[in-house]
Amino acid sequence: MTLRFSTDVLVIGSGAAGLATALHLSPHARVIVLSKDDIRGGSTNRAQGGVATVSQPADSVDAHVHDTVAAGAGLCNEKIVRYVVSRARQAIDHIEDLGLEFDQQGNGPHLTREGGHTHRRVLHVADTTGHAIASTLINRVLSDVKIKILTKRVAIDVVTTGKSTPNDSRTMGAYVYNAENGDVEVIEARYVVLATGGASKVYQYTSNPDGSTGDGIAMAWRAGCRVANMEFNQFHPTCLYHPDARSFLISEAIRGEGGKLVLEDGKRFMERFDPRAEMAPRDVVARAIDFEMKRLGQECVYLDVTHLPDKKIEQRFPNILETCLGVGIDMRRDRIPVVPAAHYTCGGVLVDESGQTDIDGLYAVGETAYTGLHGANRLASNSLLECLVFARSVANDIANKTPDNQDDRGDIPDWDESRVTDSDENVILSHNWSELRRCMWNYVGIVRTNKRLERAARRIGLLKQEVHDYYSNYRVNSDLIELRNLIHVAELMVKAAQWRRESRGLHYTLDYPQSRADARPSILYPAVDPLDVLQPINRHTNHSKLR
Ligand code: FAD
Ligand code: SIN
Repeated sequence: MTLRFSTDVLVIGSGAAGLATALHLSPHARVIVLSKDDIRGGSTNRAQGGVATVSQPADSVDAHVHDTVAAGAGLCNEKIVRYVVSRARQAIDHIEDLGLEFDQQGNGPHLTREGGHTHRRVLHVADTTGHAIASTLINRVLSDVKIKILTKRVAIDVVTTGKSTPNDSRTMGAYVYNAENGDVEVIEARYVVLATGGASKVYQYTSNPDGSTGDGIAMAWRAGCRVANMEFNQFHPTCLYHPDARSFLISEAIRGEGGKLVLEDGKRFMERFDPRAEMAPRDVVARAIDFEMKRLGQECVYLDVTHLPDKKIEQRFPNILETCLGVGIDMRRDRIPVVPAAHYTCGGVLVDESGQTDIDGLYAVGETAYTGLHGANRLASNSLLECLVFARSVANDIANKTPDNQDDRGDIPDWDESRVTDSDENVILSHNWSELRRCMWNYVGIVRTNKRLERAARRIGLLKQEVHDYYSNYRVNSDLIELRNLIHVAELMVKAAQWRRESRGLHYTLDYPQSRADARPSILYPAVDPLDVLQPINRHTNHSKLR
């Protein structure tokens, strides 16, 4: 018997986006929040730099809009940029009301700088801003009786009424894998909010936690939603290069506070690439590092802060200092070896100003969503801001909807495992995981070509077939669910990259090195691909029967 839950709103994801949405909703609705690991599992808890917000008279909303649009390389939706930036103060006031204390200096907040910002405007809590935001939200959510948290639950697919076009389709809830006992549960909900974070785990090297497997994007795509700008995966220029701490980020705020990028011989190189040098936007800095590493055959470059006072480093970057010390690097004396790594998914599920997707009752928020804010390259510290601003927008939209008649939609059928068995070769999953991530790193990385993209498309096609067969014949587990999602997301990234016959922002291809005059987002429409079938028949009834 399938275990069932019922709620008004199901929020899939417990990062900044999911938890803030749940808190805004709780006065109006019963909410279930899912996390596939523990409640702190996503990227939010790792965020270092801070939250970009205009906080001093010399700065302005116009300047923040300008910097966001400039970093976005012609592809930001300026209306959305203004929408977010002008609501930043309200979002910051809210999180401060919940108990968060940003670092102070004199009579106001201490503001740091990051690449692409023309002003100091990044609020932070030392170098562990994400941990502070997560803790604040978690404290509140755990004491809210209207919010139920279910951890170790991996959403498999969103279930919809599946009418003939996405526009007629209505959300019913989701199938969820319980990673503690191996069962698949049903959660029925009037509204489902996808807040599952990004997809940077599709690359071999990433700053992201293991769970950044693009689940929300893949689920929305399979349910029939459009996705946009998937070719723009951001590579952070500076991840620690050390075998024992490969995915640890070295915050851009270090460059904002005076850190310099140097080569093996101690020479700076960024001025050769951009007059803003270390303060250029991320796409420029990551590409420059990649170029220098390839030109010189070096495995990394270095970030040098040895000229900064020890006390400043100790107070401002205690977490980075401690982690580096843990692997034998004292950044007060030694240069930090760094390399670029996949960091942020600028594209995602296409939503409107309220976070609504193409399917009625299905929302996306945070890194999972494509709102139009980031364009072809996200400005540093705009992501947490987007999570907090859009969390309120999604919650308001849901709260303002007239309740419909749940019964009209029918029940979600039980998960059907009658035709599947336990796999006797789970090792295939880990092989396919590594193959996919290596393929994406080698062929869909910082510098692309038509040939590399074709190669990636071919390999992903084979993996997709294998994983589809596996999914059809064996019981699901967390690895399989994530691999299936990663493959779908990788395919979307390659398709979008092949569509874009120009270089722009984070998408740089040797075959089309110039930007085109007409800047357009890449919007992918769900096709009827037999391997993307919404609900494979061995799992449960085809929902067209549920109308
Ligand atoms: P996440 O915080 O990633 O949360 C995703 C949640 O979804 C998790 O709870 C996960 O368990 C859950 N989930 C995923 N799939 C499923 C599923 N199938 N079923 C159930 N649950 C699921 N941005 C800034 O603005 N400023 C910064 O300083 C900054 N620093 C960063 C530093 C690092 C190291 C990293 C990795 C990112 C940083 N970013 C920063 C980016 C920013 O942190 C993220 O974009 C943002 O936190 C994403 O929040 P989110 O709520 O969308 O997703
Ligand atoms: C960082 O601290 O460098 C990360 C900031 C971000 O991703 O916005």
